[in-house]
Amino acid sequence: MYKLFFRLVFKRMDPEQAHHLAFRWIRLAVRTPVLRTFVAAALAPRYEELRTEAFGLRMHGPFGLAAGFDKNAVAIDGMSMLGFDHIEIGTVTGEAQPGNPKKRLFRLVQDRALINRMGFNNEGSLAVAARLASRTPVFRTVVGVNIGKTKVVPEAEAAGDYVKSTERLAPYADYLVVNVSSPNTPGLRNLQATESLRPLLTAVREAADRTVTSRRVPLLVKIAPDLADEDVDAVADLAVELGLDGIIATNTTIARESLGLKSEPSLVEEAGGLSGAPLKARSLEVLRRLYARVGDRITLVGVGGIENAEDAWQRILAGATLVQGYSAFIYEGPFWGRAIHKGLAARLLTSPYDTLADAVGADVRKAEEAA
Ligand SMILES: Cc1cc2nc3c(=O)[nH]c(=O)nc-3n(C[C@H](O)[C@H](O)[C@H](O)COP(=O)(O)O)c2cc1C
Repeated sequence: MYKLFFRLVFKRMDPEQAHHLAFRWIRLAVRTPVLRTFVAAALAPRYEELRTEAFGLRMHGPFGLAAGFDKNAVAIDGMSMLGFDHIEIGTVTGEAQPGNPKKRLFRLVQDRALINRMGFNNEGSLAVAARLASRTPVFRTVVGVNIGKTKVVPEAEAAGDYVKSTERLAPYADYLVVNVSSPNTPGLRNLQATESLRPLLTAVREAADRTVTSRRVPLLVKIAPDLADEDVDAVADLAVELGLDGIIATNTTIARESLGLKSEPSLVEEAGGLSGAPLKARSLEVLRRLYARVGDRITLVGVGGIENAEDAWQRILAGATLVQGYSAFIYEGPFWGRAIHKGLAARLLTSPYDTLADAVGADVRKAEEAA
């Protein structure tokens, strides 16, 4: 039914307008108690066996909403109602900014992909912190806060901008993510080089500890799929050295080789980050590499091209404790979360593993033993 609706309504609309319309409906549903109870019961079933713990946080399951969908923390309960077990808000920057000029979001329907060059459009750390502070949660869920650099702040002063966001947002973050991997803020991805990343992550860690003294806010870094393999290893080693809690792999890609010849050439040439199905293979590869390098010392979050329960299961076997998605939600609609949960529970049941935690990284360990 959703696919028909998508073809008849959303597909004819500008993708960003469709996003805002869907958002309005979700927020409306969550404000209506009877409706939200009904929707949550139908779309967010809880499976005891999928209960997950990651960086000290308990979750209903491993499947979460990737950053970028709810940039300003306006739909945390709504997305929780739709079955996401954790919600990563942001990217939030130190200062509010409008992002890039429109049009900046494109659907490559035949490739089940998106290209975006949103450019961190968001209300800024002060406004988002105020919203989080005044929030009365309807559903209990884990909220991650993803932070990035304000565009006008020079690369050399990036740490100050991230620290500002940390000081404002860490009190409301169940976990914090340093995003250095969006292709749409000039120079941002240079911060992935270890000589830039080390002082940046150290400064954010110190700021989080200074600001929140009652608990240790887990700190993660989100990386690009376009890093060379040796740079993936270098980030992994740095994360271990600094005692980071997690790595999120991956953000969108600037590569286009994985696209078939299905989508219109004019769309394929749009600048920005590519997400969805064509990102699947590389994101999985980066995740495997990370797990082989860090094992259980750091929690890995797999994201990029996850479309169904089998994809999510493959990420878990490749080392992901948590999995996230964004693009496939646009194509699959509100029943997506339910399908992923159901499929994951079924896979776990027929697998040789007693718990989801036992399955994490099992494929990589097997390959290492065989080698
Ligand atoms: C429209 C759009 C906006 C995004 N914005 C952000 C963002 O602000 N911060 C971020 O870390 N990732 C952002 N992402 C990347 C996603 O979080 C995710 O890493 C990527 O899309 C791969 O997952 P997917 O294939 O399931 O979409 C965005 C993705 C899309 C499609």
